[in-house]
Amino acid sequence: GDGKDAWIFDVDDTLLSTVPYYKKHGFGGEKLNSTSLEAWMKESKAPLKLFHEIKDGGFKIFLVSSRKETLRSSTVDNLIKVGYHGWKTLILRGLEDEFMEVQRYKSKARQNMINEGYHIWGIIGDQWSSFEGTPRAERTFKLPNSIYYLA
Ligand SMILES: *[C@@H]1O[C@H](CO)[C@@H](O)[C@H](O)[C@H]1NC(C)=O
Repeated sequence: GDGKDAWIFDVDDTLLSTVPYYKKHGFGGEKLNSTSLEAWMKESKAPLKLFHEIKDGGFKIFLVSSRKETLRSSTVDNLIKVGYHGWKTLILRGLEDEFMEVQRYKSKARQNMINEGYHIWGIIGDQWSSFEGTPRAERTFKLPNSIYYLA
């Protein structure tokens, strides 16, 4: 309650998840229909509601993604297009972080948050590399991703 309560979201297949879509379409067993996938992406209901509930609960939202810094404007555009807004910081990989393992890059981002006085209450992500290493969050929530794995 001191304005330093923080919550971290991963971006790809966390905030911009496709899992609920594939669940209704045989988990990839049906031939991809990009018209209906894109229509679903514009709705993107489930994670959107959770994001706003956590934000409205008084947490500062940090988006920590392993996307490169050069993708900042398209990432922001995509997030806004599907209805996310009001996050505190979007952390992307700069040149100096590009050759760092994802896990080490994300740990460093958390250490910077701690150094700025934030308490990290939770992390939601689809990759173990979003949670592993120190400092840790109070709670972590691993989402499934049956398609890819990032070390
Ligand atoms: C793809 O999805 C759209 C929108 O739901 C639908 O109108 C169209 O018939 C689908 N196409 C195929 C080949 O199933």
